[in-house]
Amino acid sequence: MNLLDMLRAEHREFLRLLDRLDKSVTKGSPDAPALIGELVSRLERHEEIEEKLLWPSIRHYAPESTPALDVIDADHEGIMRVMAVFKSELFSAGRSPAWLILGCSRLANMVRSHIAREEADLFSIASKRIPAADLERLGLQAESAKEVP
Ligand SMILES: [Fe+2]
Ligand SMILES: [Fe+2]
Repeated sequence: MNLLDMLRAEHREFLRLLDRLDKSVTKGSPDAPALIGELVSRLERHEEIEEKLLWPSIRHYAPESTPALDVIDADHEGIMRVMAVFKSELFSAGRSPAWLILGCSRLANMVRSHIAREEADLFSIASKRIPAADLERLGLQAESAKEVP
C-alpha cells in the first residue's frame, strides 16, 4: 500500500476516535480512559512511521520543505509531551472529570490542527514529488514495522 494513503487513512481514524472521545468525556462515560489509551498508542506508532519513513523521503525529493518539516516536528514533540502526561496520570487517583475534559480537548485540538497542517503542507507536496514506486515500497516497510509487537 502507498504510504501516504495509509497515513491519510490513519488520520481519518484518529479524527473518528477523537469525536468518540469528545462524546465519551462530556458524558462522563467510563470508556474514556480506554479510548485515550488506544489513541495514544496508535498515535505514537503513526508519528514514528512518519518520522522514520516519510520525512527522509520528503527531505530527499523536496528539500525546500525543510522549514515545514521543522514545524511538523515541533507539533510531534508537543503532542508527545501531552500524551506522556496522559499516560502517566490517567489512572492516578484524585483526577477530576474537569482535568480529563480539559486534557482531552487540549490533545484533540492539537491533533486535529496537526493533521490538517500535515496534509496541507507535507502530504500534498509528497504526493507530487515522491515517485509512486517509492511510496509503495515505504508503505510495505510501514506495514512490516506495524507487525512488530
Ligand atoms: Fe504527524
Ligand atoms: Fe500524521
